[in-house]
Amino acid sequence: SANTMAKMAAGIADNLLLTTILSARCDVIFAPAMDLDMYNHPTTTNNISKLQSFGYKLIKPVAGELASGLVGCGRLEEPELIFEYIEKYFSDNERFVGKNVLVTAGSTFEAIDPVRYIGNHSTGRMGVEIAVAFAEQGANVTLILGPSNTNINNVNVNVVNVVSAKEMYNASVNNFADADIVVMSAAVADFTPEVVSNKKIKKGDDGFSINLKPTIDILASLGKIKKENQLLIGFALETDNELENAKKKLTRKNLDAIVLNSLNDKGAGFGFDTNKISIIKKDGTQTDFELKSKKEVASDILNVINLITK
Ligand code: CTP
Repeated sequence: SANTMAKMAAGIADNLLLTTILSARCDVIFAPAMDLDMYNHPTTTNNISKLQSFGYKLIKPVAGELASGLVGCGRLEEPELIFEYIEKYFSDNERFVGKNVLVTAGSTFEAIDPVRYIGNHSTGRMGVEIAVAFAEQGANVTLILGPSNTNINNVNVNVVNVVSAKEMYNASVNNFADADIVVMSAAVADFTPEVVSNKKIKKGDDGFSINLKPTIDILASLGKIKKENQLLIGFALETDNELENAKKKLTRKNLDAIVLNSLNDKGAGFGFDTNKISIIKKDGTQTDFELKSKKEVASDILNVINLITK
């Protein structure tokens, strides 16, 4: 398995299995098995990460006695459990078939002049994982994405690239009427410069200040025009009084649920591969989740949305 994964990661196609994988347009699930030291080798770890970055799904090896007689992590997962995984994969795959899903993600950049802008640290990763998860489960997904370098490894996500809060607002409103489920995870700028200079502002000896005006709250605007059959989910990023603030946003913006992430949680928020969330539904029920990869967090969010839509 270690050898095959190395070849898969490098795009080598010197046998039937590898040739098939290199030409596959479908999803790929891999369930490797090998000796414990091979599994722990940094090359194997890197190769697994690379394969996962292509969107391939890993069924992790488990601990136990290995062919070498050593005991450790490297045993192939039990065939029954691999079968169960595949079965669940196909039933999950159909959960959002026919649903139109709109997701916003990333930061917005508010121009000061042709060179400079006001932005924030959002990478868009959380929203991209949500969009990809919906697409994997059969939804028609439109992702309105602010400036971001995050890789979107699913060709079925229809990406609308925007830069400013105004552009994100326009794109969101244009796509809202047809949407069944809307998840707004973007870190939209709350303020934008009143005046944008069309020439680069030169530095002088004095200080410099910029007058800012509020941007439109996209989520709140959609909350106002939302129909009974549309589900609107917002995010709240808080640094203090987290729960109280999130609940206020849930009511004020007329949401069906809000995903709270606190910048106080270690490993959660901008730039991390992980996130720790709580989801509060409009009926007041709250579910707290552990720190997980953003991919797993996306899957938790979809599970909650799936239950609300039932
Ligand atoms: N949001 C939006 N448009 C804005 C600002 C925020 O759609 N102009 C959305 C975000 O995508 C998120 C939710 O509103 O889903 C909450 O964003 P957050 O930044 O936590 O809260 P704000 O409403 O901006 O309030 P504050 O910054 O005062 O906490």
